[in-house]
Amino acid sequence: MKKFYVCTAIPYVNAKAHIGHAMDFLYADILARYHRQQGENVRFSIGTDEHGAKIAEKAEEQKVTPQAYTDQIVPTWVEFAKLANISNDYFIRTTHPEHEKRAGIIWKNLSEYIYKGSYAGWYCVGCEEYKTDTHVKDTNGVCPLHNRPYDKLEEENYFFRLSAFSDTVKEAIEAGKMKVVPEFRKKEILNVLEEGLTDISISRPSGKISWGIPVPGDTTQVMYVWFEALMNYITVLGYPDHADFKTYWPADVQVVGKDILRFHAAIWPSMLLGLKLPLPSVVYAHGHVSSGGQKMSKSLGNVIDPVEVIEKYGVDPFRYYLARHISSYDDGDFTWEKYTEVYNGELANELGNAVSRIATMVMKYQEGVIGDIPPAEHDTASYREALELCRFDRALEDVWDQVRGLNQYIEEEKPWQVAKENDPEHLQEVLVYMCGALLEIADLLVPFMPETAEKIKHIFADGVVRMPDGPLFPKEEKQA
Ligand code: MSP
Repeated sequence: MKKFYVCTAIPYVNAKAHIGHAMDFLYADILARYHRQQGENVRFSIGTDEHGAKIAEKAEEQKVTPQAYTDQIVPTWVEFAKLANISNDYFIRTTHPEHEKRAGIIWKNLSEYIYKGSYAGWYCVGCEEYKTDTHVKDTNGVCPLHNRPYDKLEEENYFFRLSAFSDTVKEAIEAGKMKVVPEFRKKEILNVLEEGLTDISISRPSGKISWGIPVPGDTTQVMYVWFEALMNYITVLGYPDHADFKTYWPADVQVVGKDILRFHAAIWPSMLLGLKLPLPSVVYAHGHVSSGGQKMSKSLGNVIDPVEVIEKYGVDPFRYYLARHISSYDDGDFTWEKYTEVYNGELANELGNAVSRIATMVMKYQEGVIGDIPPAEHDTASYREALELCRFDRALEDVWDQVRGLNQYIEEEKPWQVAKENDPEHLQEVLVYMCGALLEIADLLVPFMPETAEKIKHIFADGVVRMPDGPLFPKEEKQA
């Protein structure tokens, strides 16, 4: 059986999830569900990134230990994933002893590429990233993303010989051995690799920051949070000895946001090459979602809480909006106005009405009996191609072409008139076609709106209509 391993970037837990964080989980979930539907042996991993200065600062602010802080916030992330109907098989926490143990093994296995040196330069705690002098100069010493000055560091660190891998990673990307999707992101990372990678610092003195995984054999240093977090994709599978690691690595798709492409398409593959492991087949970098045209920020008060969105209209509309109305390759935007419009228009009026009209007609004219439904007949090649390319928006556009086509068919065929013509055979043909078309649509919706797909199947499967209790997408808001 073909295997399929998909994993997402693991978010920092310095705050609760906002809708942007849902993008990684959702996209990977769509892929996992799609490949399961194809009968593949799927593993899907998500998790939380819990070490580093940012988390340590947050814990200090709350006057608790970092461990206590992460232990109390991580369950909210786990709950959020459940609420969004994310079908992950694993949930990795980087504070888990298994991760820590296996991170130590990875460090040792990379030792021929690790050396001690001194770092003098800048660091942004918000980004958890070392910054070049040019970047610091260009941004006047203040990180534009986090609105805080960079820290000046002068310290002994361990370094990873990233420079040794630039050419091999570049060749792998050019040759399509590791695909970077979309194409313009591939160009972006190839430009970085073209300039050549420089060695990177991969540890911090434990005297300055103790919240991290100790460097094996040196208690004075802890691993740099990014270096250790990237390892999660294989520690979760039990690198190096567990059967899952042997079965599922390399990842078939890694889902990440555009801001962390360099980590995933330059540093991570270099680490894998150092470990003599195969590279992921695809690194898919999506854009960012804003709120009312602006980056979500606490100070602007425009942070969209995904839990609120889900509680208002249910989980499937949330999944639908993000997958269809946020571009899969570029940035996108969320507003309540647009959300409500999509809910009422595309979901309630177009899909929901088709389902209830067709079910009602079969009840009224044929006492609920549909008859033998013919096999699916629409060409799904472009839907499948869209999913292979991580173009979730396009795949849903294809599905909606079918939904609209079906509504048009209802209007053109007018079963209520056929019913008056005393031609039950023709009426049955028309209705059976409609039910078949809905079941086909339900199949295509499985990866995107699993609950809705199930409901439609429940109503029309088995040759008889089971009348639903109410509309699929009620016009009024749900009571939270
Ligand atoms: N902890 C690192 C990832 C380590 S992976 C080994 C990190 N965390 S994060 O919380 O800042 O971001 C987690 C993911 O959410 C990233 O893929 C990031 O691009 C994504 N997003 C953060 N804000 C987002 C939007 N506004 N929109 C879409 N995705 C967003 O980076």
